[in-house]
Amino acid sequence: MPGLTIGDDLPNLEVETTHGKMKLHDYVGDSYTILFSHPGDFTPVCTTELGIMAAYASKFTERGVRLLGFSCDDVQSHKEWIKDIEAYNGHKVTYPIIADPKRELIKQLNMVDPDETDSTGQKVPSRALHIVGPDKKIKLSFLYPASTGRNMDEVLRVVDSLQKAAKHKVATPVNWKPGDPVVISPSVSNEQANEMFPQGYDTANLPSGKDYLRFTNV
Ligand code: BEZ
Repeated sequence: MPGLTIGDDLPNLEVETTHGKMKLHDYVGDSYTILFSHPGDFTPVCTTELGIMAAYASKFTERGVRLLGFSCDDVQSHKEWIKDIEAYNGHKVTYPIIADPKRELIKQLNMVDPDETDSTGQKVPSRALHIVGPDKKIKLSFLYPASTGRNMDEVLRVVDSLQKAAKHKVATPVNWKPGDPVVISPSVSNEQANEMFPQGYDTANLPSGKDYLRFTNV
């Protein structure tokens, strides 16, 4: 995946946003932050995406997660477009959106969609989405083309997974959703697991006889 990827430091760039100028690290602070780019203002899929992010803002806040949008339109355009988003979706857009009309940040962050241009022939951002941890490192990234809107329920789900894995030495299995059993990380021995998970765990009985597939509830 080009650009930022898991484990990278989020560059501490100064950005202009609908909420004024800020340094990216100041915005992240001690929180998880979702930095998500969209190809352009006043476009259909982007309007639905940013509207759902507005509707879900309280779910992200409950999880201690901040939102930060990003495109190459200017602040005035974002502010005009936000009126459409709010009218269409019925939720206030309370999160800031970065404006990068000179296309400097998009290049630095390598978030360009090579197959999409705007009406002036300039390349536009892809639908990149990075979840940044309180340590300012990228924990998870999605990269979608302009033609495919993201699934923000999946974004919530992966936030829950990341936060659970950060708190306990566990990982979340396929199609996991909050409340489902999790698996104990391979780095945890059975002796450690007995101490760390006093509620117990179930080990799958596999032909290999190996005991690496251990489910528990946390
Ligand atoms: C959209 O948001 O609908 C869109 C934007 C750029 C290219 C294609 C679709």
